[in-house]
Amino acid sequence: MCGIIGILGQHQVAPQLVEALKRLEYRGYDSAGVATIDAGGDLRRRRAVGKLVNLSDRLVNEPLSGRSGIGHTRWATHGAATEENAHPHQRGKVAVVHNGIIENFRELREELSGSGYIAESDTDTEVVAMLTASHLDQGMSPLEAARATLNRLQGAFALAFLFDGEGDLMIAARQGSPLAVGHGDDEMFIGSDAIALSPFTDRVSYLEDGDHAVLTRSSVQIFDSANRQVNREIATIDVGATVIDKGGYRHFMAKEIAQQPAVLGDVLNHYIRNDRIVLPEGMDFSQVDRLTIVACGTAYLAGYVAKYWFEKLAGLPCDVDVASEFRYREPPLSDRSWGIFVSQSGETADTLAALHYARGKVAKTVGVVNVGTSAIARDTDIALPTLAGIEVCVASSKAFTCQLAVLAVLALKAAQDRGRLSDAELARHLDDLRSVPALVNQALTTAEECRHLSGWLSEFQDVLFLGRGPLYPVALEGALKLKELSYIHAEGYASGELKHGPIALIDQHMPVVVVAPRDALFEKTVSNMQEVMARHGQVILVSDSEGIREGGDGVYASLTMPSGGGIFAPIIYAVPMQYLAYYTAVAKGTDVDQPRNLAKSVTVE
Ligand code: AGP
Repeated sequence: MCGIIGILGQHQVAPQLVEALKRLEYRGYDSAGVATIDAGGDLRRRRAVGKLVNLSDRLVNEPLSGRSGIGHTRWATHGAATEENAHPHQRGKVAVVHNGIIENFRELREELSGSGYIAESDTDTEVVAMLTASHLDQGMSPLEAARATLNRLQGAFALAFLFDGEGDLMIAARQGSPLAVGHGDDEMFIGSDAIALSPFTDRVSYLEDGDHAVLTRSSVQIFDSANRQVNREIATIDVGATVIDKGGYRHFMAKEIAQQPAVLGDVLNHYIRNDRIVLPEGMDFSQVDRLTIVACGTAYLAGYVAKYWFEKLAGLPCDVDVASEFRYREPPLSDRSWGIFVSQSGETADTLAALHYARGKVAKTVGVVNVGTSAIARDTDIALPTLAGIEVCVASSKAFTCQLAVLAVLALKAAQDRGRLSDAELARHLDDLRSVPALVNQALTTAEECRHLSGWLSEFQDVLFLGRGPLYPVALEGALKLKELSYIHAEGYASGELKHGPIALIDQHMPVVVVAPRDALFEKTVSNMQEVMARHGQVILVSDSEGIREGGDGVYASLTMPSGGGIFAPIIYAVPMQYLAYYTAVAKGTDVDQPRNLAKSVTVE
């Protein structure tokens, strides 16, 4: 969840490190730090608690010179967000930045304390610097010392080492956490992702698990876990696709919500061409007996919506599971089933571990992934890109709706392969799906009304979201978005489940957002809404004009959605959920793009 960067460059490196860290800040923003080697060969560091801007300010007052450096942006796991716990960790002649968790750090720390190396921080990472310093003190070379350290580490890590007096050397290692090498002209870079490297180079290779790399300005040698030198392919990245700006919007979230009609159009055009579903070879559902969709957070909720589609359209039993529960439950999996792993980042530790658990047990693993170079994209049998483009805001919006679009295509393909739809029915569903980008565009016009309502919502402590059928997971997503962006407690419930408990919570202090297009289940949801209003609950009804006409009497407010989209309406109804959360956060003055305690890429369990 932390971001790391390392540069052996030709220019003053501190500003470059900060520039790269800006691009990695989505991975964590509890503290940041850099270390450089100055012209005299001395290793020096600066660290600051909180957002990267605090480190930048510090570097203005206490600059660091040098053309070699490493940097880090932290999402705290072991130890509070303090300067002592901030990276780089430096002991003796080595400084280290780390993303991941060193699981055996307590044991190593105890062992080192016996030899007089005493920890100065609460982190797991410091032990890596201590161990390497102890190896250097025994007379080992930097490479020998780093290798001896790597041999002792258990857990997940991406690491970069910089050594005092060694201005043309950096060592990097990867086990479980992503790490890219950037190849420049007489410059070398390492970083947690290609986006961080994109200001400096478009030529990138990726370390594989167990690899370590020895970098100088003019060379990189990569070794596998058996210390055999290996080649890792160098790819040219599209630097234009890594441009990160708010495009005139106040927040990335606002931009990313507004991008949805365009990116949904792109992804649907990619998978549906000339009225045909176009998927990679091997995506034939005819012999599949069950699907298991595994993901976390918002991606899990995309999978939850898709469960309704797979079961209803394709008659295909579908389990959907939170990755952190799935992997430890050790569920039996049929060798005629497929596992579908949904992830924006493609690096989520639990989803990746669930994928590794399922591999070899299911007939096929399919990734629905936004970051095409990610571990989940690489490790699944078939990776289907969601093509949402870079999503910067920690709270997911366009990645969610693009995940839904890909899953909708898969559900239709499954229905087709299994002979569950006539040609006419398939054509009608394809039309519904292709109408989604335009309908999402219309749904964007709810922004102003959502902004208005959010001023009111922001005054409450608790909010309930209700939905039925495939709109139930949309209600869950509405609650999740509100929680993570505005810090207001929110719950999503299946409308029909209300009277089995949560109705006890209802009074005038608990607004209830009801997500209910005028569909076959609408009457039932209206009855649930009446039950809420009879208990002085204040309802925001999110429906189309027909639904609002029929069921809107007595509600506090309504949000008018476009009609259409058929069974794929959940994609359209995601928009007001996003806007309600966004504007409530703006009204409350929270940090919309980087909400407290969160990180975009959750690479620890
Ligand atoms: C989304 O708003 C969340 N911040 C979070 O739930 C996210 O969806 C989850 O961590 C999964 O991430 P992934 O899609 O990158 O795997």
